[in-house]
Amino acid sequence: MKKIFWLILLGGSMLFGMEGKEIFDVKCASCHSYYIPLSELKKNAQSNNTLLKLKAPTLNQLSFGVRLNIGDIKADEESQRLEAEEFIEKYIAAPDRKKNVVPPEMTKFFTTMPDIKEPLDEDEIEALSNFIFDYGEAMMIEHSAPFVSFEKAKELAKQEDKIIMIRGILPYCKWCIKMDREVMVEKEVVEALLKDFVVVKTDVALEKLPLGMKSLGTPSFYFIDKDGTTVIAQIQGYRDKQEFLELLSTIRQKVKQ
Ligand code: HEC
Repeated sequence: MKKIFWLILLGGSMLFGMEGKEIFDVKCASCHSYYIPLSELKKNAQSNNTLLKLKAPTLNQLSFGVRLNIGDIKADEESQRLEAEEFIEKYIAAPDRKKNVVPPEMTKFFTTMPDIKEPLDEDEIEALSNFIFDYGEAMMIEHSAPFVSFEKAKELAKQEDKIIMIRGILPYCKWCIKMDREVMVEKEVVEALLKDFVVVKTDVALEKLPLGMKSLGTPSFYFIDKDGTTVIAQIQGYRDKQEFLELLSTIRQKVKQ
């Protein structure tokens, strides 16, 4: 029994890149905190860091900054991953504010990062950098309402009397990324979606939209009735949290009529 437990623990830790996390915990976490929603970090920045009294940008800010600003976001993930590794390796060796990837209004109140005393070896850098690279995306998924395939959504919508919402996205569309990071993870948005909607996320370059709908450009939202065949509304464009909550509420009312 005990043996099985340790085997599972070991397997799990390898799968989820625990090695990178362990290095982060030992070498970086004394200054860089784990996930804090961007809405709270914005309020904190407006208070000049008096609200949260952080020592450094958070891990999700590092991860988001690297993903958006290092290498070519349109290139394949592996090459961006390698460039991220190079950036982190260099930043640890010689911190340079001119190279910052987190927006300056979010970091202006921090002192420059001190040099790390004991340098990391190549393998440690790779594990650490992969951990940082993947962290933001993992947090986004963890804090957003779950998304399912269109087939599954039709089933769930019928069973649970919910509206299907398809999000039309492209992986490199900056306004889609902004919605992912700043709107879809907000608690009220998650609650509103969980209550009345089933969410599908569609990369419009890879997949066709159902019911003959054409992509309106990204980000966009396609609402379909629980029967799976009636289009309720097709909406294009970024919405901030308040605007998005209002959109959801308008759609809900339209269905009730
Ligand atoms: C003693 C505190 C401290 C420790 C330990 C520390 N950092 Fe930092 N780090 C900072 C501060 C403060 C900043 C923000 C100022 C700056 O960009 O230099 C920062 C910024 C950064 C940035 C640049 C962010 C940007 O906007 O480009 C990266 C990358 C980074 N840290 C990675 C790491 C990694 C990886 C570790 C662990 C190996 C680590 N840091 C350990 C304090 C620290």
